[in-house]
Amino acid sequence: MHAPARGGSMPCHACVRDEVSAVSESMSPAMSGAVQAAIAAHRDRPGALLPMLHDILAALGHVPRACVPALADALNLSRAEVLGVMSFYHDFREHPPGRHVVKLCRAEACKSMGADALAERTRARLGIDFGQTRADGAATLEPVYCLGNCACAPALTIDGRLHGRVTPTRLDALLDELDGDSR
Ligand code: FES
Repeated sequence: MHAPARGGSMPCHACVRDEVSAVSESMSPAMSGAVQAAIAAHRDRPGALLPMLHDILAALGHVPRACVPALADALNLSRAEVLGVMSFYHDFREHPPGRHVVKLCRAEACKSMGADALAERTRARLGIDFGQTRADGAATLEPVYCLGNCACAPALTIDGRLHGRVTPTRLDALLDELDGDSR
């Protein structure tokens, strides 16, 4: 699986430079294990950074910023280059997600079928914006740019399960289920 791009341009050098200065050097044993395993599995293949990031995401559920120095060293890249790739792809979230992850498609086919209204409704229901996790840890809301389900737009996933032709009523029902699970 390839992480969908954020749908924007690569971050500017100044932004990345500021972020690099904030990179923490400390990793927990679990983080360190995941990072070393990813490096060992992919370091000799071309384009190794993306598969490494995917492995870390699979192991930890997020890609902590603290792993940037190790990845940069292993691949002979700058920290800015690693951070630039991480920030370009939505899936490489830096913080652990909530118990449920709602991904709403924001690309054109879904927008033309009412995705913007669904986005507003989802924000209001969850009480968070895109890229945020509720304070109670119940849910994370993320944008995605095409789920490959354009023929059944608008589309979303909840915990990886795809839903198409989502009406406001259907959205409410899905979020009600999610609320029930979160209690
Ligand atoms: S544009 Fe939403 S699934 Fe393709």
